[in-house]
Amino acid sequence: MAVAQGVKTWRAPGRVNLIGEHTDYNQGFVLPCAIGLECRIEARPSSSGRLEAHSREMRDTAEWPAGQIPSLTPQRHWTDYVVGVAKEIVALGFPVRPMRLDIASTVPAGSGLSSSAALEVATALALLDGRSIGKLELARLCQRAERNFVGMPCGIMDQYASVFGESHAAILIDCRSTDHQVVRLPDGIEIVAVNTMVKHELGKSAYGQRVAECQAALAHFPARTSLRDVTFEELERAAPEIPETPLARAKHVILENHRVQAFLRASENADLSAMGRLFVESHRSLQHDYEVSCEELDFLVDQALTIDGVIGARMTGGGFGGCTVNLVDSKSVDEFQRAIAERYQSRFGIQPAVYLCQPSSGAGLLD
Ligand code: GLA
Repeated sequence: MAVAQGVKTWRAPGRVNLIGEHTDYNQGFVLPCAIGLECRIEARPSSSGRLEAHSREMRDTAEWPAGQIPSLTPQRHWTDYVVGVAKEIVALGFPVRPMRLDIASTVPAGSGLSSSAALEVATALALLDGRSIGKLELARLCQRAERNFVGMPCGIMDQYASVFGESHAAILIDCRSTDHQVVRLPDGIEIVAVNTMVKHELGKSAYGQRVAECQAALAHFPARTSLRDVTFEELERAAPEIPETPLARAKHVILENHRVQAFLRASENADLSAMGRLFVESHRSLQHDYEVSCEELDFLVDQALTIDGVIGARMTGGGFGGCTVNLVDSKSVDEFQRAIAERYQSRFGIQPAVYLCQPSSGAGLLD
């Protein structure tokens, strides 16, 4: 294939989180893996003096004078991810060069598989155009773009997974130290994501609310800097003083951190039944204590657990729609896909998309 002069293609993957949900912004542990669904950006220099971005999925093009990026304001539009990243790059002292970005993504928007982080990371790489800021700073820059410009007070998991993903493995991220370790799952199991195809509006405001409720619970432990340091026993002792909702949120976060560690041990010992049990406990906690699940996600989890070869099932990502993640015996994957799709279709009249997730390497330049 002939490559036009100066054209570079950058890729950044989405992710599926195996366990450790809503723990990242509490300095806890998460276990995502980057997946084959990804955002690709073809970037070419432009003599127009402008930054131009075209999205294949949105069928939309936008452009801005490259010199005016610092003064742009959020538009509540897909372009906020591009502009937010561009502003953070300028803030680091790197001028954004005039260029045209052709964006194409296979990460479905609103699926809980981090289409936003994939877009942010691919955009950052394209705009940096080979100027290296280090992998951790790249992930942090993209997180800042989402927090400061898009207005979503997210943790570091999604951008980190997109940058540091490993082929054939998940990564256990310590969201305080921002170190990670590579975690290989036992042989013979597949990671399957099932998309509810719904994204409830409530999700946007509920995320910020959850962050605030965790802070409210933490305020009862003045000697602690995050819920990660509060033990379950301490929480129980303080429980009479803590209002019901922050108490339930803190319980989820503290026990979810334990579940990540227990999942790691179970995975090392190839103890599939413990892995499955922890998946289900995580889901029930997100459903009842953290209250970020929804009818469609609960249905998919409940049904999955009755299908042969399913080791565990839970919602993944922020919640209020998007995907479940399922651990399925490799031999049963075809039957699982067929059965879960048929049951969801007959209950909600919607055909769910099903993705077989192959852990993939982190973002970079495509050869
Ligand atoms: C979203 C956020 C992440 C994380 C998850 C929930 O994906 O972007 O930072 O908080 O929700 O685990």
